[in-house]
Amino acid sequence: MSNPEVPVLTLDGPSGAGKGTVAGLLSKRLNWHLLDSGAIYRVLAVIAERAAVAMGDVESLIDITHSMTVTLQVDEHGKSQVLLDGADVTASIRSEACGERASEVAALPAVRQALLQCQREFHRPPGLVADGRDMGTVVFPDAIVKIYLTASAEERAYRRYKQLMEQGISGNLIALLEDINARDERDRTRAVSPLIPASDAIIVDTTGKPVEAVVDLVLSQVRRHVIFAD
Ligand code: DC
Repeated sequence: MSNPEVPVLTLDGPSGAGKGTVAGLLSKRLNWHLLDSGAIYRVLAVIAERAAVAMGDVESLIDITHSMTVTLQVDEHGKSQVLLDGADVTASIRSEACGERASEVAALPAVRQALLQCQREFHRPPGLVADGRDMGTVVFPDAIVKIYLTASAEERAYRRYKQLMEQGISGNLIALLEDINARDERDRTRAVSPLIPASDAIIVDTTGKPVEAVVDLVLSQVRRHVIFAD
């Protein structure tokens, strides 16, 4: 880890477990930086698509990882905005199709390796909230608190359905459930950095739990390890 003095909180888990919302709110409450690592994979997928780079062209994908500059901004409600070379790409990276492509690039070991440095650059004072699949196992193995958020596949599909409705996009609940199960399977069974809880992670099932309750639970864990001035 680049600076052991700077605390890292990792939030890993499958799609729709609530990581993004919880991570954004925690980064606001703690006033720590946020790394939404899924957004990094999604941005890579978007650039590859725009440049017509095939998923099998690992060399070109790695070249993209070296040239892209991704910035994450969090608003007062904990909602994050993703900037690529300064331009807002939040809407385009959040589509289901982009999530699918991101899952494919994320299964390539050389791409994951190439993205390590880019992700670790987010580790800066006063602290970092890192959300993803392998934050506690691979990217920040020395994190002070590791949380593994989970929820039933049905609840995760329903949350995604509601999110799409809020954006005015119609979704099919059964198809969303099938997509979630297929993506989980690919993320769990890939050879490198499969989606598994770190051995020292605290597992939190968010099914039926209000977001604020999950945030408070995680904050109480952080406070056991970090002394705050106030
Ligand atoms: O969390 P998300 O849905 O934005 O992630 C998009 C894809 O990227 C998802 O299929 C899993 C993959 N991913 C990953 O493999 N490792 C991470 N640290 C973050 C995301």
